[in-house]
Amino acid sequence: MDSERLHEQFMERIRRGEKIEATDWMPDDYRKLLLKFIQMHGVSEIMGAFPEKEWVPKAPTLRRKLGIMSKVQDEMGHGQLLLRVAEELGAPLGVTREQLITDIFTGRTKFHNVFHMASPTWADAGVIGWLVDGAAIVSQAALLDTSYAPYARVLKRICAEESFHMQHGESIILSLAEGTQAQRQMLQDALNRWWDSLIFFFGPPEISESARRMMEYRIREKTNEELRQKFLSRYVPRIRSLGLTVPDPNLHFDESTGKWVYTQPDWEKFGRMVRDNTGPKSQERIALRRQAHEGQAWVREAMTRSTAVPVGV
Ligand SMILES: [Fe+2]
Ligand SMILES: [Fe+2]
Repeated sequence: MDSERLHEQFMERIRRGEKIEATDWMPDDYRKLLLKFIQMHGVSEIMGAFPEKEWVPKAPTLRRKLGIMSKVQDEMGHGQLLLRVAEELGAPLGVTREQLITDIFTGRTKFHNVFHMASPTWADAGVIGWLVDGAAIVSQAALLDTSYAPYARVLKRICAEESFHMQHGESIILSLAEGTQAQRQMLQDALNRWWDSLIFFFGPPEISESARRMMEYRIREKTNEELRQKFLSRYVPRIRSLGLTVPDPNLHFDESTGKWVYTQPDWEKFGRMVRDNTGPKSQERIALRRQAHEGQAWVREAMTRSTAVPVGV
C-alpha cells in the first residue's frame, strides 16, 4: 500500500478516536512530534526531582522527610516510564535510550521552566508540590485521552501519583498557612517567586504549528490557554482562601468572556531560560544529572552483563 493511502487510513483511525499502538503504522511526522513531546516530558520528570531533592536532608520532620523522599522517587520513576515509551517510539528512527537521556547534557532536549528555578525555603518545596504538581495534573490529565496508547497507559499511573504529590504539597502549605507570622510570610514569598513561572508553564497563548499538528493527530486536545485557564479557575480561589495574595494586581475573572485576565509573564526571558539553560539553577542541576549518570555507568554495565549470563550459570 502506498504511503498516501496508509496516511489516509491512519487519519481515519485518529478521527474515529482509535488508539495507536507502538507496532502500528504511523506517519513519521506523528512519531517525531510524539517522541519530542514524550522525551521532554520524561526528562522534565527527572529534572523535576532536583528542586525537591535539595530539601530531603533539610525536611523539618521525619514524616515530611519520608513524604518528600517518596515524591522524589516517584518523579524519577515517571521519567523511567516515559523514557521507556520514548525508547520504543524512537527505535525505528535510530534513537537510543542512552541518547534520550544524554540529550539533556548536550542541550538537544529541553525541560520545563519551573525546574530551572531555585527552591531556597521549605515553603518552595510546598509550593512545588501544591502548585507545580497541580499545574502538571491539569496538563497531564488533559493528555489521558491521547491517541498514542502506550503514552495513555503510563499517564494513567503517573496522574494517580501526581495527585498524591499535590496532596503532599497542600499539607505542607496548610501547616505553614496556619503557622507563625514568619511561616506565613515565607509562604507568601515562595508564592511570589513561583507565580510567573507557573503562568509560563503552560506555554504561550498562540497556537504554534507543532501544537496545531499535535491536535490534528489528537496527541493532545487542549490548547495552552485552555489549560492555563483551568489551572487559574482551580487554584486562584484556593490560594485566596488561605489569605495569600496572588502577586498579580491585574488578575481577575472577566464575567463577560468567562476567562481569567492576567499579566503576561516575560515570555522572552523564560523562553531563553528553557532554550539556553540560563535559569538560576539550570547549569548546576544539569551538572548534577551528568555526574549521576556518569557515576552510575558501572551499575548499568554490570546489569547489562549480568543479563547476558545464561540462566543457571
Ligand atoms: Fe511526576
Ligand atoms: Fe509530581
